[in-house]
Amino acid sequence: MRHYLSEFDLTKEEFLNLVERGREYRAQWESGALETLDKPYTMAMIFEKSSTRTRVSFEAGMAQLGGHAINLSPRDTQLGRGEPVEDTARVLSQMVDIIMLRTFSHDIVERMAESATIPVINGLTDLLHPCQMLADMHTFAERVGDIEGKTVAWIGDGNNMCNSYINTANLLGFDLRIACPDEHQPDEVILERGAARATLAESAQAAAEGAHLVVTDVWASMGQEDEQAARELLFKPYQVNEEIMALADPDALFMHCLPAHRGEEVSEEVLEGPQSVVWDEAGNRLHAQKALIEFLLNAAEG
Ligand code: CP
Ligand code: NVA
Repeated sequence: MRHYLSEFDLTKEEFLNLVERGREYRAQWESGALETLDKPYTMAMIFEKSSTRTRVSFEAGMAQLGGHAINLSPRDTQLGRGEPVEDTARVLSQMVDIIMLRTFSHDIVERMAESATIPVINGLTDLLHPCQMLADMHTFAERVGDIEGKTVAWIGDGNNMCNSYINTANLLGFDLRIACPDEHQPDEVILERGAARATLAESAQAAAEGAHLVVTDVWASMGQEDEQAARELLFKPYQVNEEIMALADPDALFMHCLPAHRGEEVSEEVLEGPQSVVWDEAGNRLHAQKALIEFLLNAAEG
């Protein structure tokens, strides 16, 4: 059974094919002629954390593909009352065709996938956000072209998005420069494994120098709300603002998975400026994930 828990669950070729297929889905969306799948498939979506983009893109995507998505929050299901994730996976596998899970610890999506007999998609964990990478790479391909050999700057927290960028740099062959405070470096194992393409930079400025893409994310992720004030102080030198963008390649893009905190990790001017592609990036979640759903369902059917 194929799952999408990490970027490395796809080969480079598969990842790039999904990006291309996502672009076809976007073209269909723009023309109004939407292609559906051969059957009315159902997705179970489990959100243990908040979501706007992931929730809406998967639900709208399933509807556009001629299927249906069921939103399950732990508050309303037996998961929230302690039913094991393994049992939930086995039950859902009898009723739906595909599962999407957003949760805290990464091992929960792994346990779900081990017990499910249908594909499982990681809709974000504390460790990785691989669905966002499909949309980011889709957006780069659309605006610039091939990302292989290009330089990307990650500035801010060494969080789930940063870890996903390290994996994607290694999968697709771009160079990633990471500028994070010492206290908030990316996952050690992921960085060590990705060292061929991902390196730590001395400062936000050093990371941005000549980069073709500058990326950041919130300073306090979901589950870290208590640390917000302390993090704001520590992360101050890591704001992506016009001075930082001026160091990047003149045609550099700016991306942020959103939601954004204007005046913290990114200035208003950059977020709303001409190099920012964040609205397209968000919109492409829909098209990229339709390609992912189609790929995983086709693989499951053999
Ligand atoms: N970027 C992203 O995953 O957004 P949501 O938290 O709104 O789903
Ligand atoms: N790093 C953020 C991403 C939100 C889409 C978080 O985990 O909260």
